[in-house]
Amino acid sequence: MVIGVPREIKPGEQRVALTPAGGRALTERGHRVLVERGAGDGSGIRDEDYAAVGAAVVDVATAWSEADLVLKVKEPIPVEYARLRRGQTLFTYLHLAPAPELTRGLVSAGTRAIAYETVQRTDGSLPLLTPMSEVAGRLAVQEGAFYLGKAHGGRGILLSGVPGVPRGNVVIIGAGTVGVNAARMAVGLGADVLVLDVNLDRLRAVDDLFGGRVVTLVSNSFNVARVVERADLLVGAVLVTGARAPRIVTADMVARMKEGAVIVDVAVDQGGCIETIHPTTLLEPVYRVSGVVHYGVANMPALVPRTSTFALTNATLPYVLALADHGVARAVREDPTLAHGVNVWDGRIVHPAVAESLGEKATTLDILVA
Ligand SMILES: NC(=O)c1ccc[n+]([C@@H]2O[C@H](COP(=O)([O-])OP(=O)(O)OC[C@H]3O[C@@H](n4cnc5c(N)ncnc54)[C@H](O)[C@@H]3O)[C@@H](O)[C@H]2O)c1
Repeated sequence: MVIGVPREIKPGEQRVALTPAGGRALTERGHRVLVERGAGDGSGIRDEDYAAVGAAVVDVATAWSEADLVLKVKEPIPVEYARLRRGQTLFTYLHLAPAPELTRGLVSAGTRAIAYETVQRTDGSLPLLTPMSEVAGRLAVQEGAFYLGKAHGGRGILLSGVPGVPRGNVVIIGAGTVGVNAARMAVGLGADVLVLDVNLDRLRAVDDLFGGRVVTLVSNSFNVARVVERADLLVGAVLVTGARAPRIVTADMVARMKEGAVIVDVAVDQGGCIETIHPTTLLEPVYRVSGVVHYGVANMPALVPRTSTFALTNATLPYVLALADHGVARAVREDPTLAHGVNVWDGRIVHPAVAESLGEKATTLDILVA
C-alpha cells in the first residue's frame, strides 16, 4: 500500500501523523511511505530521519495524490478539500458532528474517512483519544504550577512547599484519564492532592493507585463548594461521554476562591465544568475572574507537539499497520474497534451521530464492506 503523510497546515498544529519508527514498520512490510517535506519539523523530526527508514520525502501534491492511505492529525481544512478523492482512505481526527461542511466535502469526494476519536473498544474506551488526555492531564498541573507564580498572575505558591511551609493544595474534579494523570503530576510535585468523582469505582482505583497519598471525595455540590474554597490549583477533568460537560463549579464558588488561585479546566473542549471558563488559545492562555486565574486552552497537547506526536502515533500505529497490511475493507471487517472509527465510506455517511448532524440517515457499514 502507498501511505501518504502530509504536513499539518491547520494554524497552530505542529504534530505529525507518523514517526520514523512507524515509517520503518511500514517500509519493512513492503509498503511505500511518502512524507511531505517538512512534515516532522514542528515535532523536531527531520526529513533525513524519514529518509533513513526508507520513506520518500515528497511535495504536498504527491503525498496526497499517490497515497492509498493518508495519515493526518487534524481534519482537512478547506484548502485541502480539493485533494480528497475516491479510492483513498483518510485516517485522522475528524470531529465531524459539528462540521457539516467538511462532512459534505468527504461525501462528495467519495473518500473513506476513519476518525481517530470514534475508534472505540467494546468496553466503550477510546484508545486514540486516551493519549491526548494523558498529555493534557499531566500538562494541567505543570501549567497550573507555572501560573501560580506571582509574576504570572498567581498567588505566589510553590506547590511542594518547603520544610516549615505547607504544601499547595490541588483539587482535581474527575478521576478519569485526565484526572489520574493530573494527580500523578501533583503528587510528584509534592502537593496536597484531592480528587473528586461521582463514580466510586474510579475513586477506589485512585485510592489503590496512590496508596492513600491522595484524598478522594465523592463529587456533589456540597463537597465541591467546600474543597474549591481551599484550592490553590483547581483542575477540571470531567467527561460525560457525548454530552456537554456538567457545570460543577458555579461562579459563586469561584468568587469564594482565594485571590490568585489558578483554575485549569481541561474539560473546556466540551464546554467546561467551571461556570466562568471560556476557551482560550496557547497565545493567550489565561484571564482573571474574581481574582482567580483561568486557563482554558482547548488544545493543550499542542503546547508539547513532540511528546504528543509520539504519544499519538504509539496508539495509532497498530491500526495503521492493520489497514496497510490487510487492506482497508478487510481491516474494518475484522476489527470492530476500528469499524467504529469509520465515519464516511465511499460517499456514504456511516456514523450515526455524524449523519444525524446533517439530518440524514446513516448507512450500515456491513452493507458497504460486505
Ligand atoms: N483541553 C484539552 O486540550 C484536552 C485534551 C484532552 C482531553 N480533554 C478533555 O478532558 C475531559 C476529560 O477527559 P478524560 O479522558 O479524562 O475522560 P474520562 O472519561 O476518562 O474521565 C472523566 C471522568 O469524569 C467523571 N465525572 C463525570 N461527571 C462528574 C461529576 N459531576 N463530578 C465529578 N466527576 C465526574 C467520570 O466519572 C469520569 O471518571 C474531556 O472533556 C476531554 O475531551 C481536553
